[in-house]
Amino acid sequence: MEKTAETLRTFEDIAAEFARGLRPRAHEATLITLSGELGAGKTAFVKAAARELGITETVNSPTFVLEKIYALPRKSGEAGFSRLIHIDAYRLERGSDLSALGFDELMRDPGNLVFLEWPEQVADGLPAPSAAVRIQSRPAGGRTLTFSVQ
Ligand SMILES: Nc1ncnc2c1ncn2[C@@H]1O[C@H](COP(=O)(O)OP(=O)(O)O)[C@@H](O)[C@H]1O
Ligand SMILES: [Mg+2]
Repeated sequence: MEKTAETLRTFEDIAAEFARGLRPRAHEATLITLSGELGAGKTAFVKAAARELGITETVNSPTFVLEKIYALPRKSGEAGFSRLIHIDAYRLERGSDLSALGFDELMRDPGNLVFLEWPEQVADGLPAPSAAVRIQSRPAGGRTLTFSVQ
């Protein structure tokens, strides 16, 4: 599925709608990968999704800390996730680097909703995501978002 956003506001609305539609899997965490050039809007997408799920604290890019874990408020209990995890794999070199982040254990908990930027960096260690989001800047401005759902 492909969507276009002319403005950041529309882009955020698309991300929020996507987040509303997510449901936990039965036996493992939900993994959403985000691909696109630097500045495409991967972090902006996670910020908007986090806001929609009720996270009020500031969501900053985890480029330097690699991983951030946010508790989700009970209000989003209808969706069933208890934590949102934001990973930026930009500085990782291979799939096995994910183990330092406790990735395998995170993926075992169905309550975890994991957003991962730069999946290409760790492709050899990544399970198939529930959804892959690709964000591209359009020459005329705005963004194209492509969603591939498992
Ligand atoms: N859809 C968008 N439309 C306009 N500006 C955007 C959009 N997404 C992100 N930006 C701006 O681009 C900058 C980088 O975005 P960011 O989400 O950090 O990119 P990425 O994580 O893909 O490197 C931010 O300042 C942000 O405000
Ligand atoms: Mg980013």
